[in-house]
Amino acid sequence: MIRGVHLRPVAEEDLPLLHAPHATAPESGAAFDWFGFSGAGARRRRWAEDGLLGPDSGVLVVADDQEFLGSVGWRRNPFGPLNHGWNIGIGLRAEARGRGIGTQAQVLLARYLFAHTEVNRIDAHTHVENIAEQRALEKAGFTREGVMRGAQFRNGAYHDMVVYSLLRREVILD
Ligand SMILES: CC(C)(COP(=O)(O)OP(=O)(O)OC[C@H]1O[C@@H](n2cnc3c(N)ncnc32)[C@H](O)[C@@H]1OP(=O)(O)O)[C@@H](O)C(=O)NCCC(=O)NCCS
Repeated sequence: MIRGVHLRPVAEEDLPLLHAPHATAPESGAAFDWFGFSGAGARRRRWAEDGLLGPDSGVLVVADDQEFLGSVGWRRNPFGPLNHGWNIGIGLRAEARGRGIGTQAQVLLARYLFAHTEVNRIDAHTHVENIAEQRALEKAGFTREGVMRGAQFRNGAYHDMVVYSLLRREVILD
C-alpha cells in the first residue's frame, strides 16, 4: 500500500478538478476514458444535492496527503428483480499514473463498497486495449471473465470491452 493514498468525499474545490482536462479532453491521454465534452453544471447541481453519494451511484476523490490524484465512481448494475451489483470506474490525472495508485484506489473502493453496501459482486469494464487498467484490476484482485463484443460507443465506433469482477468472499475487510 502506498502511504497516504486514500479515498474521500468530493469537496466543492474538487469540482473543477473533476472537470479538468485529465477527465474531459481528448488530448489528456485518457484515450479510453473520453466520451465527448460534457458540461460541468449537472455534476455541480448533483454535488449540491447529495455530495455525489447517492443510493444508485457515487463518486469519491483519490487523494494523498497533499493533493487530488483523480476519482473513482460506481453505478448500480441490476441482476434481476432481487439484487444488484456495482460497476466501478476510475480516472487518475496523468502525473499520478503508473505508480500503483490505480491498483490501490480500486482495492480501497472495493473494500469500501463491500463494507458499506450489501452487494455480492463488483465489476469493471475496460477497453480491450486498455492494458494499464486490466493490469491494475488484476493486481487489485479482480478476475477477468471475458469480452463483451461491440459494447461501448466512443469516438465514432463500437468497442469490445473486457469484463472483470470481484466477489465479496474474495476480499478481506479490515
Ligand atoms: C488505468 C489507470 C486507472 C491505472 O492506474 P495506474 O495507477 O496507472 O495503474 P498502476 O500503476 O496501479 O498499475 C498499472 C499496471 O499496468 C502497467 N501498464 C501501465 N501502462 C501500460 C501500458 N501502456 N501497457 C502495458 N502495461 C501498462 C503497469 O506496468 C502496471 O503493471 P505492473 O505493476 O505489473 O508493472 C490509470 O492509468 C488511468 O487513470 N488511466 C486513464 C483513465 C482510464 O483509462 N481509466 C480506466 C477506464 S476503464
